Amino acid sequence: MRHLLSTEDLSLANAVGILDTAEEMSAVGEREVKKLPALRGRTVVNLFFEDSTRTRISFEAAAKRLSADVINFAAKGSSVSKGESLKDTAQTLSAMGADAVVIRHWASGAPHRLAATDWIDAAVINAGDGTHEHPTQALLDAFTMRRHWARLSGTASEGADLKGMRVVIAGDVLHSRVARSNVWLLRTLGADVTLVAPPTLLPIGVEKWPCRVSYNLDDTLAQGADAVMMLRVQGERMNASFFPTTREYSRRWGFGDTRLQALDNLGMKDTIIMHPGPMNRGLEICAAAADSPRSTVLAQVRNGVSVRMAALYLLLSGDTRTQAAPALAYAGTHSPKENN
Ligand code: NCD
Repeated sequence: MRHLLSTEDLSLANAVGILDTAEEMSAVGEREVKKLPALRGRTVVNLFFEDSTRTRISFEAAAKRLSADVINFAAKGSSVSKGESLKDTAQTLSAMGADAVVIRHWASGAPHRLAATDWIDAAVINAGDGTHEHPTQALLDAFTMRRHWARLSGTASEGADLKGMRVVIAGDVLHSRVARSNVWLLRTLGADVTLVAPPTLLPIGVEKWPCRVSYNLDDTLAQGADAVMMLRVQGERMNASFFPTTREYSRRWGFGDTRLQALDNLGMKDTIIMHPGPMNRGLEICAAAADSPRSTVLAQVRNGVSVRMAALYLLLSGDTRTQAAPALAYAGTHSPKENN
């Protein structure tokens, strides 16, 4: 693996390899000194053309825990706002010796463009491109689900896939790169996925995706779910009115108090509620659900650092688990904490 651009082309072996490495990385996060020397002397550039809080901070924390030097580059306040092209920006970063570029861009395909040209000779990680993909988000979601699934079945996470797990992804699928990356990765890991959204918030061609599609959240939940992932309503990408009112949206497609209660009534005591953040509390998810013991929102954020450490580590210090092994010995022998 030279770049991490999408989950669509990620093999099962690579996906499980990243998740397993992330388990080892999470053991580092449990230690008093949360640092490994693995990427000492390497430079990771966070190149963000779109707003971000948790993804950027998460990549920064991940790179620092691996002892890499981190340069944060936000398009606002840089020469990009003076009209500098992606090519010039990339060549500048290259001249500064970047070994990895973590890029978030409003244009779908920008990271692929960067990886396919000779503008820069660095590993490229897609941190979200337009409405296209967000592979590390899907990997951290899968990591969180895998721990939950392993705990339910009393088995170890390491080496496991998600065969048989029922995942519902609900909300603004149309604008969501998180939904796309999740659908591809969950298919590879063997989970059974149902998308739920109003017809106006489903992309054209969704019937060809490897999942089921429904317009009715209550019916879908009644059929059973092990994880329910709520997607943010992405107002900033909407150039039209996709639903009548926010009240109507919450009532039909949001995860509100009634649906939280319904999980209990249906005897679904082990169903987790996920959200990639940032949340619109009161729109796609109610506060009671976001803060309930079922919620994995903060576990997802925590797991994101481990998954991004794994991605940076595997891209920058070798591409096989065998090559990875010596430096990972620093991770010690702690077993991962028994939580999501
Ligand atoms: C997601 C994104 O940026 O695509 N957030 C994230 O990375 N944590 C989802 C979103 O913005 O709704």
